[in-house]
Parts: sequence; structure tokens; C-alpha cells
Amino acid sequence: MKKRVAIIGAGPSGLAQLRAFQSAKEKGALIPELVCYEKQSDWGGLWNYTWRTGTDAAGDPCHGSMYRYLWSNGPKEGLEFADYTFEEHFGETIASFPPREVLFDYIKGRVEKAGIRNLIRFNTNVRDVRFDPSSKKFEITARNNESDTESREIFDNVIVASGHFSTPNAPYYPGFEKFGGRILHAHDFRDALEFKGQDLLILGTSYSAEDIGSQCWKYGCKSITVAHRTAPMGFDWPDNWKEVPALERVDGEKAYFIDGSSTRIDSIILCTGYKHHFPFLPDDLRLKTTNRLASADLYKGVVWNNNPAIFYLGMQDQWYTFNMFDAQAWYVRDIIMDRIDLPSSEVMKQDVIDRIAAEDALEDDYGCIDYQGAYTKELISETDYPSFDIEASDKAFYEWKKNKKKDIMSFRDIGHTSPMTKKVAPAHHTKWVDALDDSLESYLHLS
Ligand SMILES: Cc1cc2nc3c(=O)[nH]c(=O)nc-3n(C[C@H](O)[C@H](O)[C@H](O)COP(=O)(O)OP(=O)(O)OC[C@H]3O[C@@H](n4cnc5c(N)ncnc54)[C@H](O)[C@@H]3O)c2cc1C
Ligand SMILES: NC(=O)c1ccc[n+]([C@@H]2O[C@H](COP(=O)([O-])OP(=O)(O)OC[C@H]3O[C@@H](n4cnc5c(N)ncnc54)[C@H](OP(=O)(O)O)[C@@H]3O)[C@@H](O)[C@H]2O)c1
Repeated sequence: MKKRVAIIGAGPSGLAQLRAFQSAKEKGALIPELVCYEKQSDWGGLWNYTWRTGTDAAGDPCHGSMYRYLWSNGPKEGLEFADYTFEEHFGETIASFPPREVLFDYIKGRVEKAGIRNLIRFNTNVRDVRFDPSSKKFEITARNNESDTESREIFDNVIVASGHFSTPNAPYYPGFEKFGGRILHAHDFRDALEFKGQDLLILGTSYSAEDIGSQCWKYGCKSITVAHRTAPMGFDWPDNWKEVPALERVDGEKAYFIDGSSTRIDSIILCTGYKHHFPFLPDDLRLKTTNRLASADLYKGVVWNNNPAIFYLGMQDQWYTFNMFDAQAWYVRDIIMDRIDLPSSEVMKQDVIDRIAAEDALEDDYGCIDYQGAYTKELISETDYPSFDIEASDKAFYEWKKNKKKDIMSFRDIGHTSPMTKKVAPAHHTKWVDALDDSLESYLHLS
């Protein structure tokens, strides 16, 4: 009897898992029967842009957190697939910070080539997963939102690849309920033009705050005030952008901060991060972790220690993304295909303790980049995923960080070196601040 394996989600992580199995099949191996459940009507996860906010077409929480005009925040040289380079996909070396549509095209290119779309059940939302200790099998209950029918199927393994940047962490501050303007979380941000001419308050100091603020600035908001809970971002911002201490309260159209200062605002954008949220999982299978590099309870970052027949992909905070998901997917594939043996439960638990301690000892972002690069390299070394020059990817990230420090509005104009082809990316034809059209045609200069 062939094993049956369920994959929940067809975003970059779930697609990496399908590609990992397909690559083994290509080399002549007998692979398990695969079912990938995807609640949206297309693949690509967050990269599959939706204009919707709130609920999706089926009435379930909208997964999409990406917005119009989103360009990659890190250099593409840090996320390149080792088995499918940008050059292979686009036929030439392209600039380093592609907009969303270009990266979506790249993600699709690899899986279209692999021919795995037929393994995905689209419009199918996983509602419940149960493990039966006597049969050692999982039962998955899912609803197909097109046919409005429920299915229940049995699997030997489950791989959770449902992402963790879709359920907003939305804090309350006094006065929010009486504020006359719009308050939204980054998850619901779509078009920066909505905020043209406005005075904006942004809470949070991480990537969403930095990038949504930059988008709104680029598309003509009047001013930006960013309130920090822990520390300011500290970039050399444009004149109409200031950083202030934490928000205390809002009263009418005024925001008051803990240092006693205040400012007038039209809208508030909560760039306050996301929650790992798995409404379809019971406690005995449910990952509970914060957004960090060494997530809780996952041996090698992927095996659920409390039941090693269920796996999680992409649950870490992310410097590395697509190629790290690949490293994880190839590793999980090899456990399921009995090519890698798991150690004792004690060893697996100690692995998590050690990874958390190592992360806690890191001093700065450069340490975090090295840490995640080394983790990716470690997993790759145990499978047949094509090895690549991880140090070159680390280097692209270091240079990117330094460029941001130099000028936060121009770091996307600089090209980095591919760890795969060793070619230096050209500068984009238009400076990022002037490039208002983010379409694939414009980016690749096809129109
Ligand atoms: C605003 C934003 C910008 C980002 N920009 C970048 C960037 O520039 N570069 C970068 O490398 N990374 C970026 N990221 C990080 C992003 O997390 C990864 O690039 C990547 O999308 C993660 O892939 P994933 O498959 O793990 O999760 P996701 O992309 O979230 O995909 C998960 C999939 O699971 C499906 N799903 C969820 N629940 C269920 C269910 N119950 N049943 C069936 N299907 C389900 C979803 O519909 C979705 O398709 C960004 C993230 C955000 C939020
Ligand atoms: N263009 C792009 O590619 C792009 C754009 C946006 C986002 N992203 C990606 O999206 C992912 C998520 O990034 P994110 O910035 O949304 O989340 P994040 O990195 O988890 O950061 C959350 C931020 O919210 C702050 N915060 C949390 N609770 C708060 C509270 N109660 N009050 C005030 N501040 C609070 C945190 O501040 P403390 O430091 O005080 O904890 C932190 O600054 C990342 O992977 C990022 O790369 C990419």
C-alpha cells in the first residue's frame, strides 16, 4: 500500500513540497500518493494577489496580506531556487528587487515545468485534522467551496504549509473606538493611493511598517508618523516622515505619545505583525510559537515533536524564504520516504532547546542571517537538493542591509550577485521611487 500524504496549502512552502516529491519521482523513486488542499482558487499563497479584504469569496477569512505595488523587500538573490534560476525562467539576468507579479511568475514557472497542478484541490479549505492513535492515521475534513461539499479522507502524514502572515495581531489603544478616520491592519492594506494627501500614523517598526510607510510616501501621502514600542527603525527618512515613542491614546483626530507629544492624523495603519493561527488543528497537533528563527517544538524546524508524523513548513521568521522552504520540503520528503531516520524523542527535544539557545545568543541581524543560512545549508546537506553557495546569499543580505542604512529609498536600485549563476544583476531601468507601474511588463521592459 502506498502511503497517503496530505499537504495543507499551495503557497511557496506547499509547492516546494510537491516539487520535492516530483523531483524524487523524476529520478525513478516510488513516491507516496499526494493530496494538496488549497482554499484559494489558484496557487502561490500570499503571492497570489487578491483585492479582497475581510472575507474571501467563500466567506472564510481572507488569506492575502500582499498589496498593490509590493516589491520584494530583500534581494531576489537570497531566495533563488537552486533547481530553477531566475535566468532559466526569464531567459536573462533581471534586476534584484522584483515586484510581486514578477516573483509570482517565477514561482509559477517552476511548478508549471514540474507538472504538479493536478495534485492540488483548489477552493478546498481544510476544516479539521484528527489523529487516531490506534490506527496511527490522520483524518482530514475539508470543504470544497465550489461544490459546497465536505470530504473526509485518511492519511499517513500531514504537512502543514498554511503560512503564518495572514492572521493579524491587532492591539487596542484607548480612543480607537471613537477615532473618526480609518484604522486598519497591514493585512487589509491594498492600495497606497487610498492614503494620498493624508497624515498617517503607523504602529510597528518591522518590514510592514517600513514598506507600507514607504509605499504611502511614494504614492503621495502628506506625512508619516511611526510610533515604536521598543526602538525606532532609525533610517534616514524623508523630511515629512518622523519616528516617535509609543502611542498612548487617540482623542478625536489627535494621537498622543508616551513622551507627551501629539500629532494630527487621518488614518492609522497597524503594522503590528501576525499570529501563528491554525483553526483547523486540535491541541495535540497544533504548533504554538512566536515569530522567531527557532520555532517551538519543531525538530530541525519541521518535525512536530509531539507526533513526528505531522510536519510544518515555513513557520520561522524569514530572512531566507523560497530556498529555505525547499530545504525543508526535501528534508520532510526524505523522512516520509524512509531515507532519513528520526532520532529519539529526547534528541529531538534537545535539538529545539539548542536551536532556541543559539538564536537567543545572536547579537544582531547579521547573526540572524548567518543563523538561517547555516540552518538552510544543514538541511540541504542531508538531501539531494542541489547545494549552492549559501555564503553568497548571506553576502547579498549583508550588502542589502548596508544599502538600506545608506538610503532607505534607493536600496532597491542596486543589483546583487546570484549565488547560482554568479552573475551580477543589472540596475532596474527606473529608480524605485519613480517606478509607479509595478506590472511585470513594465519591470521586464516588455511594454
Ligand atoms: C506583506 C508580505 C510581504 C512579503 N514579502 C516577501 C518578500 O518580498 N520576499 C520574500 O521572500 N518573502 C516575503 N514575504 C514572506 C512570505 O511569508 C513568503 O514569501 C511566502 O509567501 C510564505 O509561503 P508559505 O507557503 O509558507 O505561506 P503562504 O504564502 O501564506 O501560503 C499558504 C497557503 O496555504 C493556504 N491555506 C491556509 N490555510 C488553509 C486551509 N485551512 N486549507 C487550505 N489551504 C489553506 C493559503 O490559501 C495559502 O495559499 C512576505 C510576507 C508578507 C505578509
Ligand atoms: N515588501 C515586502 O516584501 C514586505 C512588506 C511587508 C512585510 N513583509 C514581510 O511580512 C512579514 C511580517 O512582517 P511584519 O512587519 O508585518 O511583522 P513583524 O516582523 O512580526 O513585526 C511586528 C512589529 O509590530 C510591533 N508590535 C507588535 N505588537 C505591538 C503593539 N502592541 N504595539 C506596537 N507595536 C507592536 C513589533 O514591535 P516590537 O519590536 O516592539 O516587538 C514589530 O515592530 C515579514 O516576513 C516581512 O518580510 C514583506
